[in-house]
Amino acid sequence: MKRIGVLTSGGDAPGMNAAVRAVVRKAIYHDMEIYGVFGGYAGLMSGNIKKLELGSVGDIIHRGGTFLQSARSEEFKTKEGRQKGIEQLKKHGIEGLVVIGGDGSYRGAMLLTEEGFPCVGVPGTIDNDIPGTEFTIGFDTAVNTVIDAVDKIRDTASSHERTFVIEVMGRNAGDIALWAGLAGGAETILIPEAEQDIQEIAQRLKNGQERGKKHSIIIVAEGVMSGYEAGKQIEEVTKMDTRVTVLGHVQRGGTPTVTDRVLASRLGARAVELLLNNTGGRAVGIENNQLVDYDIIEALAMPHKIDLDIYKLSKELSI
Ligand code: F6P
Repeated sequence: MKRIGVLTSGGDAPGMNAAVRAVVRKAIYHDMEIYGVFGGYAGLMSGNIKKLELGSVGDIIHRGGTFLQSARSEEFKTKEGRQKGIEQLKKHGIEGLVVIGGDGSYRGAMLLTEEGFPCVGVPGTIDNDIPGTEFTIGFDTAVNTVIDAVDKIRDTASSHERTFVIEVMGRNAGDIALWAGLAGGAETILIPEAEQDIQEIAQRLKNGQERGKKHSIIIVAEGVMSGYEAGKQIEEVTKMDTRVTVLGHVQRGGTPTVTDRVLASRLGARAVELLLNNTGGRAVGIENNQLVDYDIIEALAMPHKIDLDIYKLSKELSI
C-alpha cells in the first residue's frame, strides 16, 4: 500500500496521540502517504479527511485525548453508513485504514474489512478489555490517575475513620478496579468478573475494624453497581460512616505515562508494517512484552481475560 488512513474512535484514551504520531511517522518513514480521518467513523462518513505530514503530529506525544478527535457513531453500525465511509476512503485514494479504539471500533474495522476495505485495529481504551492483547493504550495512565485519587482519599478516610467507596470506570471489565485496588491497598474490590457477597464484605470490614483499622477503601467497577448503591448497601449492613466518590471521566484524560507512550508507539508502528505488506483484517496487541497480531474476527471472538490471581492476591493482602 502507498496511501493509508488513521482514525481514533470510541472513548478517548491517554496515549492515542502517541499512537497516531507513530502511525504517521512510520508511514512517512516508509514513503507512504498518510491521511488523518477527523471525528472517528462519523468523520469518515462525512469525509473529514486530511493529509498529514511529519509536522502534523509534532508536540502531541505527551498530550492526553486525541487530536484526531473521536466519536461514537450509530450510523456506522449500518451497512449503508459503512458504504459511505468506504466511498470517502476510495475518493481519497486510501488503500488501508488504521483504527485506534475499543471493541466497538474493532467491530467497525472488522466489518469494513469484510466489506472489502482492509483495516488494522490498534487497542486504545482505558478499560483494558480488548481481546488479543494483555494491555490497551490508556489503561496504565487511567490506573495511575485512580491511584492518585485513592491515595488522597485515604488521607481523609484515615483522619475521619471512615469507609470510602470509590467508583471507577469499566462497564464490562474490572481491570481498572482490580489493578487500582491492589496498588491502592483497597480492603475490597468489586468487579463484574467475580461474585460479590455483601455480607462477606461487611464481615471483612468489621474484622478490620476490630483489629484496629481506622478506615477502609472499597473500589467498585461501574459495571457491578454504582458507587452510591454500593455505599448504601455497605452502610446498611455495617452501620459504618461511609462516603462515596465517583471518579468518572477524570480517568480518561491527562498526560500519558511512559508505559502508555511506549506501548502506543510500538503498536501504531506495527499496524503500519502490516498495511505496508498489504495485510489487513488484523488486530495488533502485546503479549509477554512481544508484539502480536491476530485475525480481527478471531480477536473479537476471544474472551476478555482478567487476571483473577491479582483478585485473589488482593484479598489475601487485605485481611
Ligand atoms: O469505554 C471506555 C469508557 O471510559 C468506559 O469505561 C465508560 O463506561 C465509558 O467509556 C463512558 O463513555 P462516555 O464517555 O461515552 O460516557
